[in-house]
Amino acid sequence: MANIDDSSIKTISEALNNLLANEYALFTKTLNYHWNITGPRFYSLHKFLEEHYRELLEVMDDIAERIRILGETPLSTVKTIMGEMDLDERNGQSLSSSEMLNDLFSDSNRIQAFIKEVTAEKELLKPDPGTEDFLIGLLQKHEKMGWMLKSHLD
Ligand SMILES: [Fe+2]
Repeated sequence: MANIDDSSIKTISEALNNLLANEYALFTKTLNYHWNITGPRFYSLHKFLEEHYRELLEVMDDIAERIRILGETPLSTVKTIMGEMDLDERNGQSLSSSEMLNDLFSDSNRIQAFIKEVTAEKELLKPDPGTEDFLIGLLQKHEKMGWMLKSHLD
């Protein structure tokens, strides 16, 4: 990509890969809760979580492709992704539906905070407005998903 030095490309790609790993964690957790959720709101929450994991799959695909656009390599194996993820996994069978939604809401907030940290690096992103815009679009998606999760909480 034009007008960006190699070290900036590396730093930006590392941040995107870290984000990719955490999106993967959130995707897997959402799938886990979609499978294991129980209770009187089962049907609507099961469907709701399906919408979210489908959206997160698209998000992951977009992040990985953004890394390729920068000429770098996205984390592409479960093992390497596990090494980069920060979100904690939990046993879906031991949680109530409210605990699941709370957990996803707090994960969503962690991802939003991470994206804000990266987009605050104005000097780093100055030569790469495409990635900056991409990250802001991603933040907006997470803010919307976070709002939906929060709206289901008691
Ligand atoms: Fe399903």
